[in-house]
Amino acid sequence: MQFNVLTLFPEMFMSLQESIIGKATEKGIIDINLINIRDFSKNKHKKVDDTPYGGGAGMVMMPDVVYDAYNSIIAKSKCNEKIRTIYMSPQGKKLDQKKVEDLAKQNHLIILCGHYEGIDQRVLDKIVDEEVSIGDYVLTGGEIPAMVLIDSVSRYVEGVLNKESIKEESFSNGLLEYPQYTRPEVFEGKKVPDILLSGNHQNIDKWRKQKSLEITKSKRPDLLLK
Ligand code: ADE
Repeated sequence: MQFNVLTLFPEMFMSLQESIIGKATEKGIIDINLINIRDFSKNKHKKVDDTPYGGGAGMVMMPDVVYDAYNSIIAKSKCNEKIRTIYMSPQGKKLDQKKVEDLAKQNHLIILCGHYEGIDQRVLDKIVDEEVSIGDYVLTGGEIPAMVLIDSVSRYVEGVLNKESIKEESFSNGLLEYPQYTRPEVFEGKKVPDILLSGNHQNIDKWRKQKSLEITKSKRPDLLLK
């Protein structure tokens, strides 16, 4: 799967070179194509923003610079269909597991990260298919939200994780995950639940299901109502 990211801060995405996403990138399962919007500035000072019409605080990213950066992806793309374009914004629909699974069905995505007071509305109207938020709080830019989206969607791309991990994780069956334990058998006087040492997999499955239900009921009762 290819993620094309339009950003003023491509260096922020270096953290995605680590761990599971890093390995998937090395294997070629995931391709993170970073496009620096500033490279498309027509200004000798590489300016990408200007003061808002009508006055007010902050600066607004200019439409033509963003549009040229976007078109550079389209021009190079081998994808025949329109590439779904997402704008990371606190005004968007909140990202949840359902949306993540839906986005993972795409082979290509374009993710636009805003900064300053925002992006000129005209270019958003022209290129954006949907706005996505990662929660009801405001960050300084769309880069961290874009990384959240890339990480969560990549986990659903075939070959990134083993299938069992996805089946058993929180939210996958509408419930939170049961507690996990590993060696040592006794830690600070606390023993691993006996059932997990019993070797009886039917009973272990039943116990885990029960724990999932209890944990969901106590931590996220709203999920059970859904
Ligand atoms: N940009 C700034 N805040 C954001 C948020 N909460 N979600 C997505 N993009 C954002």
